Amino acid sequence: MKNFSLIDLDQLSEKELKSIIDAAGKIKANPADYMECCHGKIMATLFYEPSTRTQMSFQTAMMRLGGKVVGFSDPGSSSVSKGETLKDTVRIVSAYADIVVIRHPQEGAAYAASLYSRKPVINAGDGGHLHPTQTLTDLVTLSQEKGTLSGLTIGICGDIKNGRTVHSLVKSLSKYDNKFVLISTPELQSPQYIKDILNASGCKYSFCNTLEEAMPYLDVLYMTRIQQERFSSKEEYERQKGVYVLDRAKLSLAKKDLKILHPLPRVDEITNDVDDDPRAKYFQQAEYGMYARMALILNMIEKGQDVIPSKKESTHSVCCANPSCITAHEKYLPHLFRETGDMLVCKYCDDRTLL
Ligand code: NCD
Repeated sequence: MKNFSLIDLDQLSEKELKSIIDAAGKIKANPADYMECCHGKIMATLFYEPSTRTQMSFQTAMMRLGGKVVGFSDPGSSSVSKGETLKDTVRIVSAYADIVVIRHPQEGAAYAASLYSRKPVINAGDGGHLHPTQTLTDLVTLSQEKGTLSGLTIGICGDIKNGRTVHSLVKSLSKYDNKFVLISTPELQSPQYIKDILNASGCKYSFCNTLEEAMPYLDVLYMTRIQQERFSSKEEYERQKGVYVLDRAKLSLAKKDLKILHPLPRVDEITNDVDDDPRAKYFQQAEYGMYARMALILNMIEKGQDVIPSKKESTHSVCCANPSCITAHEKYLPHLFRETGDMLVCKYCDDRTLL
């Protein structure tokens, strides 16, 4: 039987994604109808990295469906601190719970977990790589607040290099007919694999250095935090922080029906006085996230009963060169690649190695 883990939103067909987005809207409208849907089910949340919104929205989503939750938010309080491998933790937890949600600092960790889990795994953020359930949240927000997922000019501002929410979002929204404006310093611009996805999608995109330049054209502005924890030195972070700040003066250049999104937490990239502007949607977005996760949990619980790990593939002689890839940290993991032309693409983290 197939392992129905959700590592990347790409795994869902357009039809299935739409049905989850629509289900989130229905749940929001009539939450009482769903109160018993996961009665008797248990979700495990394994958070190896700090989180407020993602963890609590998963937990409250499961509780509002009538299910129960176990897990840790500090690996220091679990057997991980005794040196337990990801593989062993997941094997055990997936025998206890019906669905496993994992956030981890290494790229590809959720995919690695899915190789050993007996139950569906949901990627709640793997290092700077992907964050599919934040994107589901963003898509629900756009469909509720904008009424469409296509034909939009979308500005993405801040840390495009390290922001996993941005990588997942661009991957998804480039499947619809949208235009992208990537607003960032040259140092924090998009990784190559995201540019490759944009090129293959046929969507128009441009790069821009200032918010002021892009503002008048945008239907959606997706602000992001500079991802301090992904920088190799404090000095490098200091050079990048505070470059992009959305304030009322810049907002005065925008369209009247702009929607401002932010995955949160915010540091200093949106001033507090913007919060009162009706175009600011980031707090509603966080609430939509809970309904989005309720819809996803329902979908996965339905599909994923009696899941057993998928057949192991044989290991490649080449190692992934990305030092943030989970394979660089958990050495027993098989080296798995997709071949595309003259490149090997790591199945865990999407890093590319020349053949
Ligand atoms: C994001 C994350 O963890 O990637 N937060 C979230 O899940 N809502 C964004 C961030 O931390 O900047």
